[in-house]
Amino acid sequence: MHEHSYVPALGFGWLTRFYDPLIAVTMREQVLKGRLIDAARIAPGHDVLDVGCGTGTLALLAKTRQPRARVVGLDGDPAVLAIARRKIERAGALVELREGLANAEPVFAPASFDRVLTSLVIHHLTSEQKREALAAIRRWLRPDGELHVLDFGPQEGAFASGVSRVIGWFDGAHRLRDNWDGRLPALMREAGFAHARESGRALTPLGSVSFYEAKGLAG
Ligand SMILES: C[S@@+](CC[C@H](N)C(=O)[O-])C[C@H]1O[C@@H](n2cnc3c(N)ncnc32)[C@H](O)[C@@H]1O
Repeated sequence: MHEHSYVPALGFGWLTRFYDPLIAVTMREQVLKGRLIDAARIAPGHDVLDVGCGTGTLALLAKTRQPRARVVGLDGDPAVLAIARRKIERAGALVELREGLANAEPVFAPASFDRVLTSLVIHHLTSEQKREALAAIRRWLRPDGELHVLDFGPQEGAFASGVSRVIGWFDGAHRLRDNWDGRLPALMREAGFAHARESGRALTPLGSVSFYEAKGLAG
């Protein structure tokens, strides 16, 4: 069964307006998102897609770090995209925004992007949606392109598992299971990516997050 819907940024639509201040405090946002962008080595002329761009922080940071790249943000939630649009306008940046679901629609033509970034999105998807979204992302990537992911990964220690239960309440523990069990690299390989691996971890007050990377077929 395909679920053609999305979980809002904080689990409930009415919380979306509090997303930026909450995440800035709990996720060391600039540091972790900066690390994801560094790993992606975005070059001038690259086409870059941020899947589940939310309020646009990562897409804006990517554009600021590499102004000569084209940056596109995709999200299924029109309310969060309205916040992103205001932020991007205030920054005077040229970041394109598209409304659409990564797992349900052929949003972009095949081989449209050199880099796909995605932060704190995959744990919002069921296993089936993860497979569909990763397959779509692989199609959108050029053969020598790269996927760079920041999301919850395996949790360590009693503190982390306690916190994980809170995240599970907001975002749905059944959707987080693949993340907590370290299955994202296997799901990436299943979707046709090469060299899928966890490249690092960081501890946040909301639990351990992992950095993942994978290459398109020519990688
Ligand atoms: C927790 S927020 C993360 C936002 C941003 N990437 C960040 O790191 O702050 C998850 C975002 O993914 C979006 N989302 C969830 N499922 C999606 C899907 N299937 N396709 C596109 N966007 C989706 C939600 O609307 C939400 O904005």
